[in-house]
Amino acid sequence: MEKSVNMEKLVAHCKNMGIIFPGSEIYGGLANSWDYGPVGVELKNNIRTMWWKKFVQESENTQGLDSAILMNPKVWEASGHLASFTDPLMDCKECRTRHRADKLIDIFSKNSVNVDLMDNIEMEKYIIQNKIPCPKCGKSNFTPIRQFNLMFETNRGVTKESSSIIYLRPETAQGEFVNFLNVQRSLRLKIPFGIAQVGKAFRNEITPGNFTFRTIEFEQMEHQWFCKKGTDEEFYEFYKQLSMDFLSGLGIPKTKLRYKDHDKLAHYAKSACDVQYKFMMGWDEINGIHNRTDYDLSRHQQFSGKSMEYLDPISNEKFIPYIIEASYGLDRIVLAILDNAYNVETLEDGSEREILKINSEIAPYKVAVLPLIKKNHSEKAKQIYSLLCKRFRAIYDDTGSIGKRYRREDAIGTPFCLTIDDNTLSNDTVTIRERDTMQQVTLKIDEVKNYIEDKMQF
Ligand code: GAP
Repeated sequence: MEKSVNMEKLVAHCKNMGIIFPGSEIYGGLANSWDYGPVGVELKNNIRTMWWKKFVQESENTQGLDSAILMNPKVWEASGHLASFTDPLMDCKECRTRHRADKLIDIFSKNSVNVDLMDNIEMEKYIIQNKIPCPKCGKSNFTPIRQFNLMFETNRGVTKESSSIIYLRPETAQGEFVNFLNVQRSLRLKIPFGIAQVGKAFRNEITPGNFTFRTIEFEQMEHQWFCKKGTDEEFYEFYKQLSMDFLSGLGIPKTKLRYKDHDKLAHYAKSACDVQYKFMMGWDEINGIHNRTDYDLSRHQQFSGKSMEYLDPISNEKFIPYIIEASYGLDRIVLAILDNAYNVETLEDGSEREILKINSEIAPYKVAVLPLIKKNHSEKAKQIYSLLCKRFRAIYDDTGSIGKRYRREDAIGTPFCLTIDDNTLSNDTVTIRERDTMQQVTLKIDEVKNYIEDKMQF
């Protein structure tokens, strides 16, 4: 039997279990910032590795990149971020808190109104006519909307003149665009080909973030596919499907995933859609797929004065490629996985167990090594741990009763627990317990590695 859980319970579970902690907690925190603990960092690393495997290792023609976070400010002029990477903000005149007008309408209308189709005047009118209350003080008395740029500014060098302003990147994509010809020429790639990178991005988000869903610092995994105009829509459809396959391959049920076409296309986009996940708080975006046309490379050509054209070695034709972008928020995928996997089950004897039903491939630890009685079995258990940890991320635990240790491993999603007891000392056998079924089998020590490998979906 399963009991329903909510986001508050998941946040508490993540903190207690070393998955995710509130950022700068001992100083009262920092809004919309979180730290991944020892368990969370393993989960995040595994998802990142799976993405790289799918989008780089298993791709015929994609290469990786790790470009700088700080870039020449002209990049952001060319990309359009300086002029228009903004949110529509209103201040509550009563309690002086700041809110996003589009989010106020989303929450009030329970997403029944399509804010993407409204301009600022229409949003202000809707908020006034419906007397939408301030989420903090409940009054409805807002300033007019102002556009607020989401990029974090910092200064390069010792002076704080405007000429020294640089920005923390709000997306990793621009590093891929400006390096397009470096990558193409250095590896002698032919179009179509892809560039992939994973890295931090920063946005000055002011709305409450629903745990790690919306944070000021987050990790993106972005894949840009450079192709010839005319082939673009076919590749757009391909990356839509690949996104769905990747997310469901991580263990997210297909019934909790859907495509959502953008109602209003960005000025550069020919087609755009999100893949949404059914979070506890409702459907929302995990990743986006865009047909960005030749906009980005054309803009960088225009602003840098450097040609961004590709020379086709066979036809000798020169052209600026189209780009199909598949952009993923790693933190949102982690959240979707936790949201889906976390449950509290009531067992037949009436007791409860918290469980993370995570695919073994991305589980933070694959196996826990547990000596039944510390003073008798820990030496042998440590020997077995040191064998297994060379192959799998393993964890050793000798604190508390065996039942409590099983529960702790269930709660962090460890698919296999290995108990070391007197039989291990006398005849080299161990008991292996599976997380989901709680069933146990006895194996010889030298069978354990293969047993786990066979059971995992490598
Ligand atoms: N280069 C395209 C781009 O950056 P985006 O839709 O703004 O597109 C891509 O961002 C992905 O990054 C989103 O689908 C989401 O998963 C993630 N993301 C965006 N803003 C975020 C935030 N404030 N916190 C966490 N993840 C975020």
